[in-house]
Amino acid sequence: MSTSHNADCRAAAEWVAGELRRLGCREVEFLASGTHPVVWGVGPDVPGAPTLLVYGHYDVQPPDPLDQWTTPPFDPTVRDGQLFARGAADDKGQVFCLLKAIEAGGGGGRGSPLVNFRFLIEGEEEFGSRVLFELLRREPERTRADAVLIADMAYIAPRWPAVYTTLRGLCYAEITVRTAKTDLHSGEFGGAAPNAHEELARLLGRLKTPDGKIHVPGLYASVKRPSKRELATWKRLPFKEGEFLRHRVQAKALTGLKTHSVLERLWALPTFEIHGIMGGFTGDGAKTVIPAEARAKVSLRLVPDQKLKTVERQLTAAVKRLAPAYVQASVTFLHGADPATVEVTHPAFGLLDQAFREVVGRGTVPARAGGSIPVVPALGKSGAPVILTGIGLPDDRLHAPNEKLDLKQLWDGIKVFRRFYELLGEKGV
Ligand code: BES
Ligand code: MN
Ligand code: MN
Repeated sequence: MSTSHNADCRAAAEWVAGELRRLGCREVEFLASGTHPVVWGVGPDVPGAPTLLVYGHYDVQPPDPLDQWTTPPFDPTVRDGQLFARGAADDKGQVFCLLKAIEAGGGGGRGSPLVNFRFLIEGEEEFGSRVLFELLRREPERTRADAVLIADMAYIAPRWPAVYTTLRGLCYAEITVRTAKTDLHSGEFGGAAPNAHEELARLLGRLKTPDGKIHVPGLYASVKRPSKRELATWKRLPFKEGEFLRHRVQAKALTGLKTHSVLERLWALPTFEIHGIMGGFTGDGAKTVIPAEARAKVSLRLVPDQKLKTVERQLTAAVKRLAPAYVQASVTFLHGADPATVEVTHPAFGLLDQAFREVVGRGTVPARAGGSIPVVPALGKSGAPVILTGIGLPDDRLHAPNEKLDLKQLWDGIKVFRRFYELLGEKGV
């Protein structure tokens, strides 16, 4: 994890803590001290009312490439009803929404509180939530609740709010290839000496072939195809492959396993992506060198029933097997997450559905998500329903330049969560 924004992350944590105090929390603490603390809050006691654990994160992904932002990433700017900033949707803007909904009278703040709030707003979600995992393992009782609410996702399409039944897991790794003791002159040695970048390129090209198949032995063994019934419900979702290609991906073609629909590829199949390739000569001008070392940052997304630990072993074995004997190849793991599955039948989902129905005119559709939130499986362990939802839109450009949040979505979101808290307090679960 980069440390260059430690002070900024600390400032974000302080902001969250200040808001929690203002909302009347009787306990506000930084847990697991350090520069990205977990912000913990306990709302005012409401005897007899349900306990709701609100989870979110104040850390964000790096904003680069900076020159592609119309306005600076950390200078939130409104244009055409959209708020542009890193974190606008993922996840600062949505945490803002969850808190403002309380201030707006959905329990606590000015009105009288309706539910027992617990807040868990962390600062390392984008790096695998290691500190929070340790905390949940050490103190499983602390986060006990009747329901968990997470707003770190988007509507499935404009005017189509959703709740998510699965999240993919993630296995993030660095592959290093070494072919010689040092770099070599390509005139003196070219033609007879191994080249680390060439070997790495070949290795990566073998790990995933142009048909979209990932050649990691055993990887697909536990991958289950969604049921016919679930696939049928996806057909009714407002998702068109052509539109997805033209307006969202904005490329010339879609790739991946052609035997599976695009939604299946995005939601129910593992992936292998190359994030960056390092090493060799990349400076200005030309240097005739044969690089001795090359590295690649890669990741696999995992689907329900795959296990991070197993996939780590499988990837290491595959890399060792694919590298020729004269190439030293190694894999190190940076972070990861197990996939998550949530049942959306608990009554709390009915209350959120009603809140969306009343405020935006349509209830929540169940869908799956391609992204990951590492602690979700741990938060669901006690049996409490984990409500994965969000008020973003599919074109919010998470992790990319010009990330934004539509202000109409934000105002609606405040009303939705306010109503949800109210229903939860009135009806219980
Ligand atoms: N909010 C996202 C997860 C997400 C994005 C879920 C889109 C559904 C749809 C989260 O902040 C995120 O980006 N998670 C990382 C986790 C990783 C770094 C461990 C991810 O998915 O890459
Ligand atoms: Mn997020
Ligand atoms: Mn994110």
